[in-house]
Amino acid sequence: MSNPHNAKFISFASPKGGVGKSTTCLAIAGALLAAGKRVRIIDFDQTETINRWYGDSDTAQAIPNLTVEKGPTDNLKDYFDHLWETATDYVLIDLAGSLSDVTIAIASFATLTITPAKVSEPDIIEANKMADKMHRLAARIGKPINHVILLNEVPSSISNDELALITQIDQSNLRRFKTLIHRRSAFSKTFSRGTLPHLAPQQDPKALAEIDAIMLEVGSILEPARQKAAA
Ligand SMILES: Nc1ncnc2c1ncn2[C@@H]1O[C@H](COP(=O)(O)OP(=O)(O)OP(=O)(O)O)[C@@H](O)[C@H]1O
Ligand SMILES: [Mg+2]
Repeated sequence: MSNPHNAKFISFASPKGGVGKSTTCLAIAGALLAAGKRVRIIDFDQTETINRWYGDSDTAQAIPNLTVEKGPTDNLKDYFDHLWETATDYVLIDLAGSLSDVTIAIASFATLTITPAKVSEPDIIEANKMADKMHRLAARIGKPINHVILLNEVPSSISNDELALITQIDQSNLRRFKTLIHRRSAFSKTFSRGTLPHLAPQQDPKALAEIDAIMLEVGSILEPARQKAAA
């Protein structure tokens, strides 16, 4: 499959529902758009959270350099073969909350897959299942994968149990973003406002700083060689 525009392909995946896949997909889209990038979002979730967000909001549809579409349910190969024909910088894929073969294949194929998780045992168990399936597929097809956990909706004060869980994650094989995304209304209002945290008329600097810090980490994951060369 050729990728003439060298687009980066980031998927958002977890079998667990409600962990923030769609929310963080949109927050990252906003940061990329604010940085002048072209973003194409593909909504592969049958709930169509992002596709509806876009379709229902004139504000969202007026955002320059952003396109949103629903992913197909069949003929996936043709779809992915032609995905790169439109010039774009980033393809963001919001995946269904499942461990289906299609979900795992798309997640493993992405340049980077982000699994949001709350600091809670059930979310981390599901993140581990995702990582496990992706690594198995990657081993079978001989393709390296980039899979990173994003701790999301972190409360402003962390309990000892939550700290212990973070330590446990850090001692496991799961890779995580060092930046934590806290529970903030700037993120939860994305859907009702029809705009993105970075493009909202009233911005929350703390929310933007968190996403900007994630983007720095994303940059070093996607382009480690270039960053080392520039150093
Ligand atoms: N950092 C955050 N701060 C505040 N609210 C958040 C945050 N992240 C997510 N939420 C809220 O949590 C809910 C679930 O988020 P979201 O829909 O993004 O999860 P999801 O993983 O995409 O769910 P699904 O599996 O149903 O697709 C939403 O109401 C969203 O506004
Ligand atoms: Mg969703």
